[in-house]
Amino acid sequence: MTCGTEKPLEGFFAPCPVCAPKGRMRTMEPVYDYEGLRANGTFAAWQKRCADNHVPNLWVFREMLPLPDGADPVTLVEGGTPLVLLPTKGPGRIWIKDETRNPTGSFKDRFQTVSISWAHAAGHKKCVSTTTGNHGTSMAAYAAKCGMKGLVFCDPDSPEIHRRLIQLFGSWLAVLKNRKQLLEWLVRERGWYPSTGFTPPVSTPYGIEGYKTLGYEAFFQLGRMPSRVLAPVSVGDVLYGPWKGFQELEKLGANGPLPRMYAIQSAGCDPVVQGFRAGAREMPVHPNPQTIAISIGDATGGWHALSPIYESNGGAETVTDAEIVRAMGTIGAVGIAAEPASAAPVAAALNQQKRGELGQDEDVVCIVTGSSAKWPDTLPLAYTPRALIDENPASVRAWIQSFDPE
Ligand SMILES: Cc1ncc(COP(=O)(O)O)c(C=O)c1O
Ligand SMILES: [Zn+2]
Repeated sequence: MTCGTEKPLEGFFAPCPVCAPKGRMRTMEPVYDYEGLRANGTFAAWQKRCADNHVPNLWVFREMLPLPDGADPVTLVEGGTPLVLLPTKGPGRIWIKDETRNPTGSFKDRFQTVSISWAHAAGHKKCVSTTTGNHGTSMAAYAAKCGMKGLVFCDPDSPEIHRRLIQLFGSWLAVLKNRKQLLEWLVRERGWYPSTGFTPPVSTPYGIEGYKTLGYEAFFQLGRMPSRVLAPVSVGDVLYGPWKGFQELEKLGANGPLPRMYAIQSAGCDPVVQGFRAGAREMPVHPNPQTIAISIGDATGGWHALSPIYESNGGAETVTDAEIVRAMGTIGAVGIAAEPASAAPVAAALNQQKRGELGQDEDVVCIVTGSSAKWPDTLPLAYTPRALIDENPASVRAWIQSFDPE
């Protein structure tokens, strides 16, 4: 698509046929009749649906989602998540886009509701995904909702809770490191629908459309474009999707300027940051990923992680695992439980603020992508213990007096 090749998208899960022979594995993606949608007042209709800065759910943006007219979405009521101001002294305002509030606790529900809705409407009966945890759990939930057979290839490093949820939702589960070849075999030879990220050789072009709504929502909740958007990046869908959303809003009639997009990674696994620093177009592979932030711990990213950064004059930054853990505590202090990957953009925004890079009137939106409820082992790193287990009332009283002396 980046080369301008157009063809009908129906059931098209392979890379661009013009780019692939040249060694550039580019994914196809939907385009819309922007002129027509602008002319018939789509933007004003959305403003009305999102009155008082409140977005009910992501299907209010249906005109720009790839579902055939008349088809019912497969939905668990996703999106419309809160935008929460983090109390800081400034300069600038740091916002948390609280994606923990989605049905399975992560932003992946935006992907899967759109991807599975398309597949279901197109008559697919079997869906497969590969995952570090969140993506597969989400697919299993949406497959359950519409009665599709689900199969998830899960990373051995993912916590047990994901595996339990996937099975609770009735999907089949295989835990293994090498997942890509099996996925390709299932899609090419056995007719499974790949409800999986935007990376060739096989992937769906539809799911990433769901992430556009992160951009739409941030705009309608703020009442204007944010100045920066920071996201925890692995494959890059989480950055590419919202960037497409902001660009589309402008095409439909919203005022700019567009935000600067930032990919945030852990210092222990930073191929996107390395690629950006080298001015690369293709992504390097990290030799030995080591991070607490498993959800962004893939050795390689996708090419499309880089394009929003270049196009928006944004950046790519690392944060240390120690900074991530500290940010989990900072986010916890406003009542939100973020998993390590999701705390990374907040850590980076606080670093930008500390370095004096934020202007007084900047709105910085951090996509806090997923809940720590599914990553319980990382939680105790982020707080000072405050619990007592003791059957003796006298000891409990003495303990209470230690933090409540009056
Ligand atoms: C919680 C969380 N944050 C961020 C990401 C990274 O998203 P992407 O692979 O689209 O860059 C993932 C991907 O699994 C995730 O689960
Ligand atoms: Zn192409």
